[in-house]
Amino acid sequence: KPIYVLNGPNLNMLGLREPAIYGSDSLDDVRKKAEARAKALGLTIDFRQSNIEGELVTWVQEARDKAAAIILNAGAYSHSSIALLDAMQAAELPVIEVHLSNIFRREPYRQHSYISHGAKGVICGLGAKGYELALEALADLLAA
Ligand code: DQA
Repeated sequence: KPIYVLNGPNLNMLGLREPAIYGSDSLDDVRKKAEARAKALGLTIDFRQSNIEGELVTWVQEARDKAAAIILNAGAYSHSSIALLDAMQAAELPVIEVHLSNIFRREPYRQHSYISHGAKGVICGLGAKGYELALEALADLLAA
């Protein structure tokens, strides 16, 4: 089964959007790096982005049967979505939460994530590298 790599709102704007905070890589660049890393680790990924909260909820629900694990950058929904947390808990899969930026050195409203409560681990502040590190962690976890 693949690892679902799910990206939330505004991440389609990556590269154009506040590059001082989020870097100059586009989401397609992030996808390519993640795919290369996954391949090296013997994993497959299904990389997706949506601006719609309900679509992300549906994907997390679907992962329960179709995925081995989830890497989730829920964007701003991290700070607001109990629905996404509920879906993660129902999925009963390891979820690694990723943020490109270090949310703890940013605005106070970004310093709480509802979805962290349902995450196996959280990686933030390391840019696109965070996705690769999440894949490494899952490779170990799934092999154990
Ligand atoms: C983000 C951090 C969030 O606070 C923000 O709303 C995003 C991106 C990150 O990857 O750093 O959209 O999840």
